[in-house]
Amino acid sequence: MSEPKKLFIKTYGCQMNVYDSERMVEALGGNGYVEVDSPEQADMVLLNTCHIREKAAEKVYSELGRLKLIKDERPDLKIGVAGCVAQAEGQEIMARAPVVDLVVGPQSYHRLPEMEKAIQKGEKPVDTDFPEEDKFEHLNKRARTLRGPTAFLTVQEGCDKFCAFCVVPYTRGAEVSRPKDRIVREAQELVDAGVREITLLGQNVNAYHGHEKGLAGLIWELAEIDGLDRIRFTTSHPNDMDDALVDAFGTCEKLMPYLHLPVQSGSDKILKAMNRKHTRDQYFHLIDRIRAKRPDLLLTSDFIVGFPGETDQDFEDTMDLVRRVEFGASFTFKYSTRPGTPAAEKPQLPDDVANERLYALQALITKQQRAAQDSMVGREVEVLFEKKGRLPGQIVGKSNYLHAVHAVGPESDIGQIRRVKIVESGPNSLAGVLV
Ligand code: 5AD
Ligand code: SF4
Repeated sequence: MSEPKKLFIKTYGCQMNVYDSERMVEALGGNGYVEVDSPEQADMVLLNTCHIREKAAEKVYSELGRLKLIKDERPDLKIGVAGCVAQAEGQEIMARAPVVDLVVGPQSYHRLPEMEKAIQKGEKPVDTDFPEEDKFEHLNKRARTLRGPTAFLTVQEGCDKFCAFCVVPYTRGAEVSRPKDRIVREAQELVDAGVREITLLGQNVNAYHGHEKGLAGLIWELAEIDGLDRIRFTTSHPNDMDDALVDAFGTCEKLMPYLHLPVQSGSDKILKAMNRKHTRDQYFHLIDRIRAKRPDLLLTSDFIVGFPGETDQDFEDTMDLVRRVEFGASFTFKYSTRPGTPAAEKPQLPDDVANERLYALQALITKQQRAAQDSMVGREVEVLFEKKGRLPGQIVGKSNYLHAVHAVGPESDIGQIRRVKIVESGPNSLAGVLV
């Protein structure tokens, strides 16, 4: 048997890319590749890129600069760019970075095995189509080896919302939902491979319409799978939280008490300018309804500060919303101008104003995050242990609220859900004892 070829894949951006990277590794496995953890060891390097903010996109070019040095030494090294920068820039990437051998968009990566054969012949393929065929149906079965107890599963891709700041509707295309039967089949394959927790992914996951009863219908169907104990989903839009999904937080035991529900801003004026199509009051009302079903829900959000036209008062409205809702954690971003999006046409705010707001919001969010974590001390939570910890005898996993928890326990508990009493809240994780 010939020596396996070695693939290094670097993933930027969101969890959808993490999922896509796994599937790309599986797809290239059929061409004789195994994954390695550094570009120096690799025969092929793939960058699975993110285009959401300017910084994310620029990182790709600096990484390509570093890879060029390796390729200068080893001209046989093949370099590919996948993901959303590939989609947005296509052929231009090759012009800007001639070291690149292939460019593949997020909807075409099931064609990677053929593309890999083409680059071996010296071709430089670019594929950023939105093909008719379902890429998932052309991919290999989910791998059985090396699988931990948690997994991502993409159920929906693309977005029709067209928030004024966002490139996703352009890079990932229109909303498409995968048929429910195929998702159930993939979930079963994952469970057969030892997975206990699945996070359903989509750019607009709660706009899922591959089931007649929407995402809630899919969740209930997945909840029937024996051995699948935990279900999560991300990322949701407030306007797609239908009654059935809100109810599921109160009635579906396997649905975890954690929800990422980005609001972006607390100002009605900015929400309107962002084309979010809801008000702050509608958001408050929705949160009240979900918390009525699941009072212990841990809620997180995304925020953008410094959006064009944001005044001090608008920003204060965001701070006020955060104080009222009390988030368990959140991501805060400084607005980044994305060419081709409507907001890019508007007058931009001075950078120092945006920076100041970002720090103020981050400080508030960090305080809330700490408070949520500290409030776990003394409580008993269920932890799905995922791996060994850094200290001898330690194992680490996630609570139902997605807090990282470590405890002293047997390695045989890895892959199992155990009751843990939380005894300490550290900077990034909780310490507990098995009960
Ligand atoms: N600038 C800053 N943040 C952005 N996001 C999306 N587009 C931009 C942009 N142009 C943020 C939003 C979204 C998250 C994934 O990234 O908060 O929810
Ligand atoms: Fe982007 Fe808005 Fe769609 Fe989210 S809902 S992916 S922020 S356009």
